Amino acid sequence: MATQKSFREVELPEQKPQDDGTLFPAVLSPNTTATEVSAFEDVIRTHKPWLESLLLKRGAILFRGFPVVSPSDFNSVVKAFDFPELSYSGGVAPRTQVVDRVYTANESPLDQAIPFHHEMAYLPNPPTKLFFFCEEEPRIGGETPIVLSHILYEKMKEKHPEFIVKMEEHGLKYIKIAGDDDNPSSYTGTGWKSTYKTDDKNIAEERAAKQGTKLEWMENSVKIILGPFPAIRVDEMSGRKTWFNSLAVSYCGPATEKTGNQNTSVELGNGDSVGDEVVEDLLKVMEEECAAIPWKKGDVLLVNNLTVLHSRRPLIKPPRRILASLCE
Ligand code: FE2
Repeated sequence: MATQKSFREVELPEQKPQDDGTLFPAVLSPNTTATEVSAFEDVIRTHKPWLESLLLKRGAILFRGFPVVSPSDFNSVVKAFDFPELSYSGGVAPRTQVVDRVYTANESPLDQAIPFHHEMAYLPNPPTKLFFFCEEEPRIGGETPIVLSHILYEKMKEKHPEFIVKMEEHGLKYIKIAGDDDNPSSYTGTGWKSTYKTDDKNIAEERAAKQGTKLEWMENSVKIILGPFPAIRVDEMSGRKTWFNSLAVSYCGPATEKTGNQNTSVELGNGDSVGDEVVEDLLKVMEEECAAIPWKKGDVLLVNNLTVLHSRRPLIKPPRRILASLCE
């Protein structure tokens, strides 16, 4: 694909070659030596239609080498794209607002991995696009690998055709035990109060119901039952089936012993359990098919959340500070 003259497409060894001859993700660098973030904002505004079509075609764009230094620079970049903001209501991950549209990415301990997921796939209206920004570059580890969702669907259908038929028919149901307050040691550790932005159990129930979620109150905690939700979605723009579910993040069993958390579980919508061998193969395919590009300070990664899943590798050598912004 021809690049617009303000950008040049760069090749990195970690990109994944696709059947159509493109590389995943697209990586763009500036053709100018501008040092002000405002120049990048202008370029984004001018080329927005082209950038949007590139995002649809390639699934994700890494902007590398642009003058994005601070969280407020990143906020300006996000605003230059002018996608509507998504409020983080009903999310399971602990996050803090940094400035305006910019939040910390998941605050769970950085030496822990976070498995692949579409952001907020467990909600009826997940974000369509995600921005990530590298404010502090990890010394070793801490990548944010990404993988094309339709590839997971195709590979899993080859390996487990019967299970995939059942999953398409019944969807998946997710169960999470949440405390009153956040548990920062878990990547799904938000308490119900911050999940539903209230101290009032009735209000929490109303908000949960709007998202297709049931709450069962227990002593000092609540059982949050989400779904069943469809596990496979057809992406309207591409017409492809996508692996749009939270199986890898929510599953708790031998396959996820090392990376899984203890406060969530997942089952088929009809109550059948998900076999461990399915999840084992899923994790394998995810690793084989993903692109894991080490972060560089100033990187901005734009992800089509409807067609691409992301994850987090454990940080081996600090520091690491990755910020995020979600779009409707
Ligand atoms: Fe995420």
